[in-house]
Amino acid sequence: MEAEQFTVRFADAKDDPAIAGLVVEGFLDKFRPIFGGRMDRSLRIMEKWVTLEHASGGVTSLVTEGYSTSELAGSVGVRTAPSREDILARGLWRSLTRNLGLPRAMWATTLLSYPRYSHTSSEAYVERLVVSPSFRRQGIARGLLSAAEDLARDSGKETVGLHVSSNNLSALRLYEAEGYREVSRQKSFLTSYFLDIREWLYLQKTL
Ligand SMILES: CC(C)(COP(=O)(O)OP(=O)(O)OC[C@H]1O[C@@H](n2cnc3c(N)ncnc32)[C@H](O)[C@@H]1OP(=O)(O)O)[C@@H](O)C(=O)NCCC(=O)NCCS
Repeated sequence: MEAEQFTVRFADAKDDPAIAGLVVEGFLDKFRPIFGGRMDRSLRIMEKWVTLEHASGGVTSLVTEGYSTSELAGSVGVRTAPSREDILARGLWRSLTRNLGLPRAMWATTLLSYPRYSHTSSEAYVERLVVSPSFRRQGIARGLLSAAEDLARDSGKETVGLHVSSNNLSALRLYEAEGYREVSRQKSFLTSYFLDIREWLYLQKTL
């Protein structure tokens, strides 16, 4: 799996902290209103989330190495099966309450529940695609997406689906250029008001 001069490989457990760092950095505008004054806890929560996703099954992460094997330039999660929801939801809730306190944890759970997605057996779902700012516009996201599609094919899937917020123009351009087409939209007053995301677009590509 090769994204221009960068190597894409399967993540292993020791990549979890670096993946969490990329996600927090890449989605700062989304996480700031969610974590508020507890933004310093966001990395710990995200690391737990990534670890739980891997432990509860269904999601495989791919990473692109930067200029050395110890540095990650980008990553993506690919869901090919449902997770053990009991492990994932309970573990995440415990981490949120421990780090944010009960009221802020309830708030975070509500906002983080968007966009809503129900797994279907014929589809692989791409989530948290992110590239470190210093590595952008070098084809890394395109390479990760292509590797995610290979993984979907190898898992016998017919389609790849993903969500993107309507105001994320760089990601929308990438997905359109790679052959993803809009299937539906979710509107949310909550994310519109608090995250400045009026609509979540659900895009799909037939393999
Ligand atoms: C969106 C994101 C993943 C793109 O990563 P990237 O490695 O820079 O993207 P690529 O270099 O592979 O770009 C591939 C194509 O996408 C489009 N694109 C990517 N970034 C763009 C930008 N800032 N403006 C316009 N088009 C852009 C272009 O068509 C580009 O092809 P080109 O460079 O040949 O013109 C990255 O900006 C990012 O991590 N953003 C924050 C997290 C995020 O929004 N993730 C998507 C969640 S749905």
